[in-house]
Amino acid sequence: MRKNIVAGNWKMNCDLSETDYLISRLMEQKLDPSVQVIVTPPFTNLHHTYHLLKSMPIGVAAQNMHQEEGGAYTGEVSAKMLKSIGVETVILGHSERRAYFGEDNALLAKKVTTALTEGMTVIFCFGEELQERKEGRHFDVVKQQLKEGLFHIAEGDWSRLVLAYEPVWAIGTGETASPDQAQEMHHFIRETIAEAYNADISENVSILYGGSVKPNNAAEIFGKPDVDGGLIGGASLKADDFAAIVNAFH
Ligand code: PGA
Repeated sequence: MRKNIVAGNWKMNCDLSETDYLISRLMEQKLDPSVQVIVTPPFTNLHHTYHLLKSMPIGVAAQNMHQEEGGAYTGEVSAKMLKSIGVETVILGHSERRAYFGEDNALLAKKVTTALTEGMTVIFCFGEELQERKEGRHFDVVKQQLKEGLFHIAEGDWSRLVLAYEPVWAIGTGETASPDQAQEMHHFIRETIAEAYNADISENVSILYGGSVKPNNAAEIFGKPDVDGGLIGGASLKADDFAAIVNAFH
């Protein structure tokens, strides 16, 4: 059964005191208990956040991890380290990782394998750039990202996978895909998974939409049949806005 999920991607925001403030405001919010809520602070505040939210129905995930188990990889963080502080979910493939840190489908395929092998849950992000959409290549690009980054995994691992379709042109730009554009792509994603695996897997995986989701557009986007929630950047840094988005399912 797929779940409704709203995950806040804090990106490189929130130092320790800002984290404390945001979490204390989050704790005051009334959140729809049927929605799985996740926040993803930067590495430095993961442990702290995990402890603060331990008794709350809010999960804590990492924004990235390295594909190797450990060793001489200066500046990197492994799955094992994340698990040792209670963090069992990781975002992989965010467009900012792809664009600024050279993460391509082949590297992401390795990261996905490592995370799943370590028993973690993966929120796998993908989506086309503006030029690709203008040229009508958005379906091909998304298919390729899924094929090369994800379709090597075993059927049994799909239960620990969440997808996040994030058209790059809608991230942080204030421009969202229209609810119909989101639905059209999410439907295509399910078809693509059904072809590569089976209908059961494609019907049961949660597919989030990401890209300028705000309190005033969340309900319409989440109302689409193949949209199971959102990956929220900017609006996740304001507790009221984030809560309004969590509560936007109907
Ligand atoms: P945004 O970011 O909501 O600020 O557009 C979404 C994301 O990058 O995950």
